Amino acid sequence: MIDALRISGILNSNHVVSGLSHNLYRYPARFSPRFVREIIASLSEPGDLVMDPFVGGGTSAVEALSAGRSFLGCDINPIAVFASRAKLEAFSESTLNKALQIISAKGEQTTCGGVIPKHYLKDGYLNNVPRRFQRLIAPILTLTEELENQEVELFIRSVLLKTSQWALDCREQTPTGRAIRKRFVEDAYAIFTGSQAFTELRKSNASRFGVDPKAEIHLSAAQELPFKLLATNRRLSKAKLIVTSPPYAGTHIVYHQWQINSRRRTRVPFWLINSLDGMGTPYYTFGDYRTHTRSKYFEEALQAYSTMKSMLDPAGTLVQLVGFSNPRVHLPRYLEMLRVAGYEEVTDRDSLGRAQRVWRNVPNRRWYNNTVASPANGREVMLIHRPV
Ligand SMILES: C[S@@+](CC[C@H](N)C(=O)[O-])C[C@H]1O[C@@H](n2cnc3c(N)ncnc32)[C@H](O)[C@@H]1O
Repeated sequence: MIDALRISGILNSNHVVSGLSHNLYRYPARFSPRFVREIIASLSEPGDLVMDPFVGGGTSAVEALSAGRSFLGCDINPIAVFASRAKLEAFSESTLNKALQIISAKGEQTTCGGVIPKHYLKDGYLNNVPRRFQRLIAPILTLTEELENQEVELFIRSVLLKTSQWALDCREQTPTGRAIRKRFVEDAYAIFTGSQAFTELRKSNASRFGVDPKAEIHLSAAQELPFKLLATNRRLSKAKLIVTSPPYAGTHIVYHQWQINSRRRTRVPFWLINSLDGMGTPYYTFGDYRTHTRSKYFEEALQAYSTMKSMLDPAGTLVQLVGFSNPRVHLPRYLEMLRVAGYEEVTDRDSLGRAQRVWRNVPNRRWYNNTVASPANGREVMLIHRPV
């Protein structure tokens, strides 16, 4: 069972996300790894399947695998799927060395100017991205693709993503080419070291518990995941635990863009990971956050949570961390949505029958979450449910 006091302490500590492969990419609104670790340890056993249908930056995936649990996750954002998969990869030393060669050779490359695929230019993916930055990255990507080695490509794209986020996102000025190149090398070592730490823990816990945990992360809406799996003739196993954090009602969090040079947005991460964007912010947030009080958000959530129930073991648990721009209005509606989807809440009650839930005060996250529609008082709540 969950120790509420302990969870509250973890959720409200100023602990920064670190360790294992968690820092490969800073995904917006990501979980605290300690929170997920505690939930996984309390509500599942080694060998069980843990699921996160809004996997984001993959925090739950890393923690589940590290603890000897199998993992099934999905997200509609290609950046989330890329980062989550990369965080689970066991990168070899030869991959690191090959990547370092390419990254540092680039500075002296005269023959390879690098080609940016037309659709990224035509469809504005590189809007607001300094030309000198594009000229630095393009040859590295071209050389990487020519190698045709999937592991090295995943590694280099991860380094480019991490370094570029540092260089561009939420910055007033882009650092010099020299500083960025230095950072490429530092980030390559950081990603390699993180991957090693994760792989060692994953292996040692697998052998300690005598299990062989597997992970799958799909580019899919939560509502469609079982159908996608069935379409590939897969046997569906049920999750003992769903630990997740969906889009927040009435809240404007931008999962798919970076903000550069005084709040101008860019979709440059899609170029770095060789993928395409979906359909803008409302696509990633269950509809337009300004109209979340109306039906769309709750309709989407109902579909997603009903589908997830079909993937949850009858004796399993659903744990969520959710934020609302207006908890007084949205929380009762959200709880009603979960009741209709087939869950009952597991919570202690005080002498007046009021639910005793664990809340978290969220420090100011990022500029785009700091707007009119940011969560009231910056608070999130942990909800625990069982299927009925
Ligand atoms: C709050 S974030 C999850 C963050 C994650 N817990 C972490 O630690 O990084 C919510 C995620 O839900 C994804 N999402 C939104 N609508 C979705 C849907 N219908 N199906 C699956 N994922 C969706 C967004 O792209 C976003 O990555």
